Amino acid sequence: MNPQKIKFGVLGSSRVALKGMLPAMRDSDLAEFFMMGSRHPEKGKEVATQFNCTNWGSYEDVLKNKDIDAIYISLPNALHEEWTLKALEAGKHVICEKPTAISYAAGKKMVETARKNNVRLLEGLMFRYHPQHAKVKEFVESGSLGDLVRFEGCFAYAMPDRASSAMSSTLGGGTFNDQMPYPVYSSRMIFKSEPESVLCTIETDPESGVSIKSNMMLAYPGGRIAFASSIFGSYYQSTYSVLGTKANVRMGRAYAVPRDMEIKIFLDADDKTEEIVIPPADHFRLMLDDFCVEVVKGSESTKHYEDDLLAQARILEAARISSRERRVIKISEIDDVKNKLPHVLMLPKETFKKVILTGGSGNLGRAITRSGLLKNIVAPSHSELDITKPEEIRKFFEREKPDAIIHAAAVVKMAQADKDASRVETNIIGTANLVHEVMKMKENGHNIRFIYISTDGVYEGTKGNYSESDETVPYNNYGLTKLGGEYAVRTLSNFCIIRTSFFDPNHIPFDTAATDMYSSKIPIDELPEAIAKILQSNFSGTINIGDERKSHYDKYKETKPSIKPCTFEEVTRGLNFNMARDASLDVTLWKAMKRQLEDNV
Ligand SMILES: NC(=O)c1ccc[n+]([C@@H]2O[C@H](COP(=O)([O-])OP(=O)(O)OC[C@H]3O[C@@H](n4cnc5c(N)ncnc54)[C@H](OP(=O)(O)O)[C@@H]3O)[C@@H](O)[C@H]2O)c1
Repeated sequence: MNPQKIKFGVLGSSRVALKGMLPAMRDSDLAEFFMMGSRHPEKGKEVATQFNCTNWGSYEDVLKNKDIDAIYISLPNALHEEWTLKALEAGKHVICEKPTAISYAAGKKMVETARKNNVRLLEGLMFRYHPQHAKVKEFVESGSLGDLVRFEGCFAYAMPDRASSAMSSTLGGGTFNDQMPYPVYSSRMIFKSEPESVLCTIETDPESGVSIKSNMMLAYPGGRIAFASSIFGSYYQSTYSVLGTKANVRMGRAYAVPRDMEIKIFLDADDKTEEIVIPPADHFRLMLDDFCVEVVKGSESTKHYEDDLLAQARILEAARISSRERRVIKISEIDDVKNKLPHVLMLPKETFKKVILTGGSGNLGRAITRSGLLKNIVAPSHSELDITKPEEIRKFFEREKPDAIIHAAAVVKMAQADKDASRVETNIIGTANLVHEVMKMKENGHNIRFIYISTDGVYEGTKGNYSESDETVPYNNYGLTKLGGEYAVRTLSNFCIIRTSFFDPNHIPFDTAATDMYSSKIPIDELPEAIAKILQSNFSGTINIGDERKSHYDKYKETKPSIKPCTFEEVTRGLNFNMARDASLDVTLWKAMKRQLEDNV
């Protein structure tokens, strides 16, 4: 065995692994199939043995194996992010099947993690390595096609089996994820540039919720247009064509090409069609070998796998938004948070002559009051204003006539029985009571700005780096009731929902903290400034506010050096409610907004 070979661990025994990548590893002089990872030991053993590999185990066993240099991941799309991140964090290079990232945020996180760990990450779009595309590029570069005008690509096949991962929305199936990456990538490869904007429609299957038809128009610089389609439930198509001012080139079979298949390319020019035959080639092996060469080159490598992955993820993200919002999306909108921001302004101080702060006797309530940042603030304690009592609210509002409300009253303690009724009564109904009063005041011509202090607990708490547009899937009853409050607040027109997590650095009430639990907790005395800025702005919507992502142990030991490390399992053992493993927040929107607000003071 060649000691120079890159040793691969393989996660998942998918069809593409069995038919494509594992035969490629068997035939490669640069890669070696070293260990098989499977959820089922018997299956792992069977696959490993079939390819003369003597090691198998769980996915975790593979990542722990010190002899392994690189991981090939062909798990269902929804698991790519989790296992790619774990593999990268374990210091392994990764080839992950397409789409490596099913959101742009996931792509960014993976690329950041690869760079941080000094390892390579390649999106497994093997088709691009087939020599047939080099032939098309030759036509383009030699000028035989003239100036390029239009690209058209389509990947389509019969409706997959309803029981397959392709038809499972929880596993990230659907034609948009499974097939669209191919024609989209081909257009980038042929035009040798990035699109400026996209328009996309995605049709979903009502039964499974997965995409079954997607059509996309990509506008490239210089007026060049690409059309890309992907379909579940049609006659087989695996093709693209490129139209130039002088000729047109059509691919007989562009994407899924068996290694023993001879390929035909058709060149239409001068009213004749020339057939070009391309001998069989194993594009999996060509991709694998290219990756191994670059891994060995290390810092000398000049290939931009990671930037390429991000560019692709950015286009697909724009396409999803385009389909959802039924509009053309500029690719620059995806990365440029400033463009996503409405024009945010600081309103004159006198706009808010009277501010009611609910939960005034609570931790955050006291921090806001002691900051002295907001003048004319009325901060009733629970006994002075019980938000579960609409009549008390009405009287309080009639007396105070507030211009704004910062709503920080809540039943926060999670240790209370998960179904504790006071949590629903206060966090949902209490918030709705306040909203109702604000609406009534508006009917009487008095406009009140509503700032709602929500929590990072509205997110699922597993992947971390949550952005405001991520799905809300609260992991315990507290998060659920705070989300209920958010829904009430969203019925208003002048509101801001602040999703945050804070702690008091001078009062850390535990002796141990987990090294594998992450969040973006912010010191409590840093939050009032952000709240005051947001209150005085014209921003309406939801915003995350927090600090840099850190483990709880790393965060707390900064001010409590005596704290001892422990694990998530230890923290959560015996609790009657769930906690988040990674509730960290993407706070790019807040950073950009803060800059804007500071600029226009
Ligand atoms: N602690 C965190 O890390 C965190 C993270 C994200 C978001 N938040 C949110 O931030 C806000 C403040 O949290 P905190 O840590 O300051 O909580 P806290 O110390 O428990 O304060 C909550 C306040 O709400 C009051 N309250 C409870 N039920 C009420 C009712 N029915 N009517 C009026 N007031 C009522 C409490 O008064 P009594 O004590 O007298 O009942 C207390 O003053 C909450 O909205 C919370 O959901 C907290």
